[in-house]
Amino acid sequence: MTFLLPVLVASLALVNPTVAQSVDGSKYNSPTAGPPSSYFAAATSIPVAALKSAAAKASTAAKDATYPINNSGGAAKVTIHSDWSKFSEGAAFVWVADMDVDCDGIDYKCKGNQDGQSETNFGALAAYEVPWIVIPDKFGTTYQSVLPGNNVGAVICDGKMFYGIYGDSDGDDPEVIGEASWLMARTCFPNDDLNGNAGHGSVDVTYILFTGKDSVLPSSALNKNYITDFSTLRSMGDSLMGSLAKNLGLSGGSETSTTTGSAPTTTCSWSGHCLGASCSTENDCSDDFVCTSGKCANP
Ligand SMILES: *[C@@H]1O[C@H](CO)[C@@H](O)[C@H](O)[C@H]1NC(C)=O
Repeated sequence: MTFLLPVLVASLALVNPTVAQSVDGSKYNSPTAGPPSSYFAAATSIPVAALKSAAAKASTAAKDATYPINNSGGAAKVTIHSDWSKFSEGAAFVWVADMDVDCDGIDYKCKGNQDGQSETNFGALAAYEVPWIVIPDKFGTTYQSVLPGNNVGAVICDGKMFYGIYGDSDGDDPEVIGEASWLMARTCFPNDDLNGNAGHGSVDVTYILFTGKDSVLPSSALNKNYITDFSTLRSMGDSLMGSLAKNLGLSGGSETSTTTGSAPTTTCSWSGHCLGASCSTENDCSDDFVCTSGKCANP
């Protein structure tokens, strides 16, 4: 039997080329050496720019959905939208806000944190290790049935998309919106030394939070303190985000824009398989395009 093992290992490696990022979270529980951003970044096939524009157009207010971005009088108010909440796959709430730093949980003594609590809503997460999104507590209570906790979500910050989980809520008076864990905030804006007392103030961060039980990161991928399996976070994120993009009629991530030379110039219903894309048969081409001399072309 022993000679079979290398063969088995080799073939498994071929079937699953993505190395599972199972981690001992405590090794990343550091303010300056958290998990690399690649562990929770969206795949290049996700149409980030198009999702950001679509998010800016969402207009249907959810219930109990409007909150100030900080507690000074006259602070801008932001509304959580429910336009995307009825899809059967990839249903989500969406809003655009600033990004303050939350360090509740075991890293509550992070730099600048004045009012930390040692627990987060569904555990005692490590803000240095877990990319999480915060929502106002009242909103979480109103939508508890579809937001049971640890739902996968994403932020779009500075043109990049990162996945995280709904890990904490804000119960200040007034409750404020636009907040994420230390790791998420500092990954979004790595040059700004964001900390418990210094957030990203511009209202230009898109938050997408998936709803329903199918969007909850399973207990096999996290424990009370840490995410232990980033591959699952990423694959759930890509899958939910792909469904959402499809529901919104969006196609084309950077897959299209990074194609060199014969880059397809038109958009079509199957991103990366539009006019000019490489093909070997017409099944490789979108819509009713045919495959002529190795390129998708009009029939
Ligand atoms: C609160 O938000 C407003 C923008 O709405 C900003 O001008 C102000 O500086 C913020 N205050 C604090 C304390 O961050």
